[in-house]
Amino acid sequence: MPKFIISGQKPLSGTIAVGGAKNMALKVIPATILAAGKTTIKNLPNIEDVDKSLELIVELGAKIERGKNFVEIDTSGINQIDFPTKLADKFRTSVMFVGPILVRLGEAKFPHPGGCVIGAGGRPIDLFLEGFKAFGAEIQMTDRDYHITAKNLHGADYFFTTVSVTVTESLMMTATLIPGKTILRNCAMEPEIEALAEYLNSQGAQISGAGTATITIEGVEKISAGECQIIPDRIEAGSFALLAAASRSEITITNCNPKHLLSLLSIFTKIGIPYEAGADYLKMKAATDIKPYDIKTHEYPGFPTDLQSPYLVLMTQANGTSLVQETIYDRRLLWTDMLSQMGANIIMCDPHRVVVNGPAKLYGKRLISPDIRAGIALVIAALIADGVTEIDNIYQIDRGYEKLDERLIALGADIKRVE
Ligand code: EPU
Repeated sequence: MPKFIISGQKPLSGTIAVGGAKNMALKVIPATILAAGKTTIKNLPNIEDVDKSLELIVELGAKIERGKNFVEIDTSGINQIDFPTKLADKFRTSVMFVGPILVRLGEAKFPHPGGCVIGAGGRPIDLFLEGFKAFGAEIQMTDRDYHITAKNLHGADYFFTTVSVTVTESLMMTATLIPGKTILRNCAMEPEIEALAEYLNSQGAQISGAGTATITIEGVEKISAGECQIIPDRIEAGSFALLAAASRSEITITNCNPKHLLSLLSIFTKIGIPYEAGADYLKMKAATDIKPYDIKTHEYPGFPTDLQSPYLVLMTQANGTSLVQETIYDRRLLWTDMLSQMGANIIMCDPHRVVVNGPAKLYGKRLISPDIRAGIALVIAALIADGVTEIDNIYQIDRGYEKLDERLIALGADIKRVE
C-alpha cells in the first residue's frame, strides 16, 4: 500500500492552487444521468473518489472521455438498473446514482453503499429511502441489496429531521424530473448544493431556494445535457490555510472562494492568524502568537466537520487550552490518538469532545491514515513535526486531494510517496 514519508520542519512558502470541489463533482456526475446526452464537466479534480464515480456511470451504460481536469459524459445509453456490487459498495456516494436512475429507468437495485469509517453503524441511508418513499417509490430490502421501483412518482412536501448534505442533493436532483411540486424543508445549505441547483437550472430544471433551508422544485419533463463548471473545493482551501497557519508559513492559496470559508477566517482573525482575502485567493501570512479558540462543528455556514481535524493540529500549536466538539460524525475524533502519539497533549472527554493543551512539540511517528480528513491533518502534523513521519494508507488522502505530494513539494516540503 502506498505511503508518505515526510521529513518535518522544512520552511514552506509559495503558491498553491485549489482544485474543483470533490463534494460537488461526486453529485454532478450522477446528475448527468437526468439528461440523455453529452455533458462536459470542467474543473474536475483527478482524485480516487471521482475515478470510482466515473467507473460506476460507465457500468450503468454511459460513455466517457476524460481529459486533464475535465470529462465528457454521454448518458444516452444509460440502461442498467442493477448497480455492480463490487464497485457500488466501496464508496458512499454510489447512493447518489439511485435517484437519477430511478427517474430515468423506473427502478434501481443497489447494495448498501460503503465508504470511510467516520459514521456510526456504517453511515445509514435511511433518509434517502424515506425521501424516495415520500415521492411514491416502493422499496424492497433483502440482506444483499435494495430494490426501488417507481410507478407513479409525485412531488412531496418533505421535512429533514436530520440535516443532510447528500440527501438534500439527492432528493433535489431526483425531484427535478418528478411531476408536480416538491418542497424540501430543513435542508443543508452548503455552497455545493447551490452550485448543483444552478447547473440543473441552466439545463432547464426549476429549482428555487437552494443554499437556504427550504428548496422548492417544480418537476419538469426533461432537462438537457450541457456544461458544468465545478466550484473550487472550500475544504481543500481551508486545509491549505490551516497548514500555513500551523506551520507559520507565507502561502498564497489561489483558485479559491474565501467567501465559502467565513467560519474559519473569522476564527483566524480572533486567534492571531494574519491573512488577506481576495475574491479568488487567500494570502496567508506567518503567524507569531497563536491563541486557543473553542470550536463546535456545524452544518454550513458553521464550522465544517471536514476542517475539524486540521484545525485540531493548529490548536496543538496555540498558547493555551481549546475545546473541539464534533457534532456531525460519531467517530471523527478517534484519530486524535495518533496526534497524541506524536506528542500532542489531548484529553478525550467523550467521543464528541477533546481538550487540546498547547503548545506542544510534535515528533515524527509511523501512522496510518484512517480517513481523508484525518489523513490531511496527519500530513500537516508531520510537516511541522521534528523528525520523520511515515503515513500509511494514503489511499484515504488520494480520495480527496489531487497529487498532494507534488503540490506540497512545490512549497518546499520534503515528502516522498513510496509505492
Ligand atoms: N445521516 C443519516 N441518514 C442518512 C444520511 C445521513 O442519519 O440517510 C446522518 C449522518 O450519519 C450524519 C448526518 O446525517 O450524522 C449528516 O451527514 P450528511 O448526510 O450531511 O453527510 P453526507 O451528506 O454523507 C457530506 C459530505 C461529507 C461532509 C458532510 C458534512 C459528500 C460526498 N460528503 O456527507 O464530506 O462531512 O456532508 O455534513 O458531500 C468529506 O469530504 O470528507 C466528507 C465526509
